[in-house]
Parts: sequence; C-alpha cells; structure tokens
Amino acid sequence: MKINGKSFRTIWPEDDGASFVVIDQTRLPHRFETVSIRSAEEAARAILTMQVRGAPLIGATAAYGLALALRRDASDTVLAGAIDLLAKQRPTAVNLRWALEEMRRAVQDLPASARAAAAFTKAQAIADDDVETCRLIGVHGLELIKAAAKTKPKGEPVNILTHCNAGWLACVDWGTATSPIYQAHDAGIPVHVWVDETRPRNQGASLTAFELGSHGVPHTLVVDNAGGHLMQHGKVDLCIVGTDRVAANGDVANKIGTYLKALAAHDTNVPFYVALPYSTIDWTLGSGRGIPIEERSADEVLKMQGRLEDGSVVTVDIAAPGSPAANPAFDVTPARLVTGFITERGVASADRNGLLSLYPERRESAA
Ligand code: MRU
Repeated sequence: MKINGKSFRTIWPEDDGASFVVIDQTRLPHRFETVSIRSAEEAARAILTMQVRGAPLIGATAAYGLALALRRDASDTVLAGAIDLLAKQRPTAVNLRWALEEMRRAVQDLPASARAAAAFTKAQAIADDDVETCRLIGVHGLELIKAAAKTKPKGEPVNILTHCNAGWLACVDWGTATSPIYQAHDAGIPVHVWVDETRPRNQGASLTAFELGSHGVPHTLVVDNAGGHLMQHGKVDLCIVGTDRVAANGDVANKIGTYLKALAAHDTNVPFYVALPYSTIDWTLGSGRGIPIEERSADEVLKMQGRLEDGSVVTVDIAAPGSPAANPAFDVTPARLVTGFITERGVASADRNGLLSLYPERRESAA
C-alpha cells in the first residue's frame, strides 16, 4: 500500500541477500523509519520488541531470519536452533510457527550446500503468498461491504469497526481486516472506519489510523470502550477484525478487547466478521482453550508514548507510582459470537463445518 504516494511492502530483501528490511513499527506514526536485519538473532529481536508485529508479518520475518541463519551455516544444528529461537519470541500467533515449519520442510531434506538458496526462495514465496492471500480476502470481504452498502441511504458510508491493526502493516501488503475496506474504497463504495485505539500499545491509533489515513480512507479514532455505545446507536454496520490463531472449532484469539467487541456486536445484532489467511488456522487445537495467551510487560500498561509539540517523542508514566499492572495481550472470542470468517477461499460460518467447507483437505487431520 502507499505512504506519501509511494508503494511499500512491510518487508523486503536487500539485493545482496545478506539482509532484509522492515518498517520499524515502534516508530510509527511519528517517524517512518526502516531497519535492516542481518541475522536470525536480529530478526528474533525485531519480533520480540514489536518492530514487526501482526501474525502474518512475524511469520514472514521469521522466514527471512531463518534464511539468514542458513546463509552463514546450513547445518542441522543451526536449522533447529534458529527455528527454536525465532518460534519462542511470541507465543499466540500461530503464523510464526507455521512459517517456520514451512521453511523446515523446504530445506531439511536438502544437502547443506543447497539449503541457503532454497531457504531464501521459500521466504520470498511466503511473503509473496501472503500478499496474494490478503488480496483475495479483500475480494471476498468486498461482497459483504457491497451488501451492507445496498442497505444504506445513497451516498452514506458503510461504517466498519475494527480493533488493533490487522492492516497491511500487520501483513506484507493489503492486510486481512483492512483488505476488503481498501478494495471497497478503491471501488468507490463510501466506507468509514471506527478505529479502536487498542490500549496498551495503541496499534489502532498509531498504525491502523496511520495506514488508513495514508491511503485516504475516511476513519475516526475511538477509545476502546466506545464500541458498545456506537453499536447501540446504530453507528456500526459491521465489525471486521483480524486474528492471531483460530482453533478448528472456530474460536478466535485476537488482540485483547476483541471479545468485548464481539459481545457488544452480538447484543446489538451487528455482524462480527473475522478475516484470516489459512496460515492462521491451528488445526491441531479442538477449541480456543488451548491457545497460549502472551503476557507482556506491565510497563506497557503503566506508561505511554507520545509526541510533544516540538516533535520529540517521549514516554510518560500514567499510573500512580507503585501500582501493579497486568497485561494479557490477547483474548479468545468463542466461535458462537462470530458471524463468519472471511478467508482467501471465501466466506464461511465460524465453526468447524464452515472451516472444513473451505478447507475440505483438512477433514481427516483437524482436531
Ligand atoms: O500484538 P500484535 O500487534 O502483534 O497483535 C496483532 C493482532 O492482534 C492482529 O489483529 C492480528 O495479528 C491479525 S493481523 C492480520
């Protein structure tokens, strides 16, 4: 997608194959900076510190990181060690593990001399595949927005609420939840997005609002607690969120606060859709109870970052000194609260049958 009229992906390899580049998401929206990553260790650090974040993007980052490790030493020991290092940086998004398993399968049976080139090719394929997958999510989700637009008085926008950042910054391009929105906007369908700020790290305020604004999509930032009120007053036509892991029964892990939005949507009869690529489905889990929920630093709750009038970016304390804080980063929304899944293969009900109707090849292996 575009920033200041220039097209970007979130991740790309450098020409010499010795490093890859990512957009540093900890600097947005105040500064647009890129970081060059030269090793699996640097890739792991970028994932941990959330310079890169969002389920598909951390998968692609890990894939390129592993390719860099094998470039230095393609032994079995390094392969296993780098996969282990990269996989443990963030526990909830299954795309990280998925991408590393794809990489392992692509190289493990090759002689060491062929592994580095094959790993680089596979990492590039994972990134390219994510772009096409997200584009197709948009193609299918667009139909839902078109249907909603038909129910609106002429010229009035379809109001969509989203949580966190499941935009192109969370993927390689397009985004999951945002792909239908971009495609509707580009097709001339009036849309307006309610953007949850998404405490504690404010991915909505700093990333979703930034990327929608950069693409010219009308949007309004709201505090996380406003969604229920907006839905009660008919100001939301549909919710579309992303996800970090979907269990085989359709339970959805996503950024903390998603569950509360789904409850409000259920109570007010607002359709609540989850957009996801196939790499986010964990077919080994029979329900969301088995999804590990990342606990992050209390500092993310106790402090906040912002820009002063002189342009400098500072971190301030926002709580009483000494107050303890807890920071579960994700929650699980039960499948019964989800209207449907928007995937690269189409839209389906959020349950086992719906998922299997889209991915029949999983019928035998799904938990
Ligand atoms: O902690 P984050 O910023 O990595 O969390 C991201 C989300 O929860 C996204 O909604 C999810 O990864 C889907 S991204 C297409």
